[in-house]
Amino acid sequence: MTVQGGIGQSIKRKEDARFIRGKGTYVDDVKLPGMLYLDIVRSPYAHAYIRNINIEKALKVPGVLAVIRGKDLEAANLAWMPTLMSDRQMVLPIERVMYQAQEVAAVVADSRYAAADGVAAVEVDYEPLPVVVDPRKALEPDAPILRPDREKKTNHIWHWEVGDRKGTEELLRKSEVVVKENIYIPRILVSSIETCGCVADLDPVSGKLTVWMTTQAPHAIRTVFALVAGLPEHKIRIISPDIGGGFGGKVPVYPGYVIAVVASLKTGHPVKWIEDRSENLQADSFARDYHITAEIGATKDGKLTALLVKTIADHGYTDAAANPSKFPAGLFHIITGSYPFAKAFVEVDGVYTNKPPGGIAYRCSFRVTEAAYTIERIVDILAQKLGMDPAELRLRNFIRPEEFPFKSALGWTYDSGNYHGALRKAMDMIGYDELRKEQEEKRKRGELMGIGISSFTEIVGAGPSHTFDILGLKMFDSCELRIHPTGKVIARFGTKSQGQGHETTYAQILAEELGIPADDIAVEEGDTDTAPYGLGTYASRSTPTAGAAASMAARKVRDKARGIAAHLLEVSPDDLEWKDHKFQVKGVPGKAKTMQEVAFAAYTNLPPGMEPGLEAVSYYDPPNMTYPFGSYICAVDIDKETGVVKVRRFVAVDDCGTIINPMIVEGQIHGGLTMGFAAAMLEEISYDENGNAWGGTFMDYLLPTAVETPKWETAKTTTPSPHHPIGAKGVGESATVGAPAAIVNAVMDALSPYGVTNIDIPITPWKVWKVLHEKGA
Ligand code: CDP
Repeated sequence: MTVQGGIGQSIKRKEDARFIRGKGTYVDDVKLPGMLYLDIVRSPYAHAYIRNINIEKALKVPGVLAVIRGKDLEAANLAWMPTLMSDRQMVLPIERVMYQAQEVAAVVADSRYAAADGVAAVEVDYEPLPVVVDPRKALEPDAPILRPDREKKTNHIWHWEVGDRKGTEELLRKSEVVVKENIYIPRILVSSIETCGCVADLDPVSGKLTVWMTTQAPHAIRTVFALVAGLPEHKIRIISPDIGGGFGGKVPVYPGYVIAVVASLKTGHPVKWIEDRSENLQADSFARDYHITAEIGATKDGKLTALLVKTIADHGYTDAAANPSKFPAGLFHIITGSYPFAKAFVEVDGVYTNKPPGGIAYRCSFRVTEAAYTIERIVDILAQKLGMDPAELRLRNFIRPEEFPFKSALGWTYDSGNYHGALRKAMDMIGYDELRKEQEEKRKRGELMGIGISSFTEIVGAGPSHTFDILGLKMFDSCELRIHPTGKVIARFGTKSQGQGHETTYAQILAEELGIPADDIAVEEGDTDTAPYGLGTYASRSTPTAGAAASMAARKVRDKARGIAAHLLEVSPDDLEWKDHKFQVKGVPGKAKTMQEVAFAAYTNLPPGMEPGLEAVSYYDPPNMTYPFGSYICAVDIDKETGVVKVRRFVAVDDCGTIINPMIVEGQIHGGLTMGFAAAMLEEISYDENGNAWGGTFMDYLLPTAVETPKWETAKTTTPSPHHPIGAKGVGESATVGAPAAIVNAVMDALSPYGVTNIDIPITPWKVWKVLHEKGA
């Protein structure tokens, strides 16, 4: 017997009722009485001394009430703030700016327009300094030291390594075939529909600070605010209302949030700060920016042996990456991917440059995209060298289904997988053998067609708290569940949806566990005054952590409910079984009580001695990460004359274990594939030698529209996670992680007759045309 909206049903999203009517409440919809507006003066220079900031003219602009500078924050010890990676970041500078578009001062006014006029009237006297934009140059001995405030007088931030360096080098030396490639994964930016912003309201009477904020992690922000600003935590309320896309970009604390709080304190009014699009593109946390050298070894007949990866990570002027604290390079060491290497070694060096800080997990579980891209690219380059079909090379090497749980060469224990199954399904769907024949024919005619595969393994759901924390806060997540007397439910969570559909899918898990229709279950997230403590939503962690907490809280409720049902049925609790979403007397299916009947009794007719009410809370600390995977195959045609690449077909087979809502998962994959396509083909933030950002508007930072986006063909296999209560794995970012390598592998496959092994993304027509031109095609 099914329950309305139970697990596996494609019910429509509850939240869409308000979203499609334009009735969502985003931060910019929050309007409070007496609210003021904040706008920010930003640096035109990538590196400069600030000789003086003259605010006299700005203060005379009608409507301007205050101008805040770094020195105003210094007194309260707020000119700098800590980053999530234990570095420090300027809220407002005292003497130096470190990247173009950095915050320099802030203007508070009674309208957004007056604030903008005030910004234009602030006069800043800069003395330009030498700029370093290339992290490799930043490591040269004569490079200017960008962070003289640090004890270590170098631009090198940290070195991090994992694996067996000597063993890997030795095995590579002994390997019959070795290939090595330099791969650059450029800076990109999330570009959510909604930019960042907040409304800060420090009530001068109660002393309570309420901040409506675009944050993916409200509880963690509240604790950080309490620790940094010394405010009592119960007097801070962070509310994440509806969020128009987060994708990792709304995890960091941006200076604008802190300045708005200070502005509210200073003026005694609520203060709103909303970034505009160019500020978002030029100053928010970036993703990627990894300079990678990868080396892979194999036998002549294509058995993989060892993998060695060296990386320079450009972090801008401060390491403000959003990673679990123990992992400065995130979970990059998932880089052995779907393969059982005997030996592997990876090292990463973090470097300062004059660029915006960050290193966020853009729709990715902390550098997993960089890892998946690298391994799937280098495996294809190896196939090219071996003269072996890349599908055959993968099928020959994949970890076999019976080998799970599988310990990778770099120490992760993969929970479950069936990589052969996913790739074979994708090959059948796309008609792999026929495509290869077509390619042969086309090559004879001098036409360029390519087929690319990406068989990625992810690692999501941070985390077991013994390994994963953020600034010491253990990474678990939570669900608090209450059943009302009439059998309706309110459930609150420590995560925060940014468009993923949690109000629907969490209700579906609870519907399945409680036998109560999903329509009768309200889900709330994002208010620290009401939701249980949790670490938030990013890195596809919600389903593996809070989704599991939903099941566990429901099971706790069921334990109590069993006693009440037994009382109502006048039998012993042991005589009952939970079957068909009801408590039934074993062997007598007609004698049963529903959860709704039990709920009413929980407030009206309890067994003697039992506490009234029906509720539970679960803080779920997962025993392991979940390891979703997939196989994508892409077919491209390239126009020799223009270098334009056309993705003709793209087949995506994903496996995220048990699926809660197939329609939502398909939506997640469609969106993720489009973001992966964007990274492969269009998006990049680059800088000229003076640190001027190219890509500060959507005229230059190219997002795919419906015109460019290929038609996605999706399918699934189902390999449940053995440790998750309902067997689910995360899925939100699988497609962004897996897609780029499939597309680039297809392009390289098309160009392989010319001996081309790599073009760095984004694969623009100009880059392709140039290579073809150089090769005389
Ligand atoms: O943490 P985040 O919500 O971004 O990622 P997720 O846990 O992968 O979930 C994304 C969306 O897909 C949520 O609405 C999930 O409940 C849904 N999902 C699902 O229906 N089945 C799965 N096995 C995994 C996710």
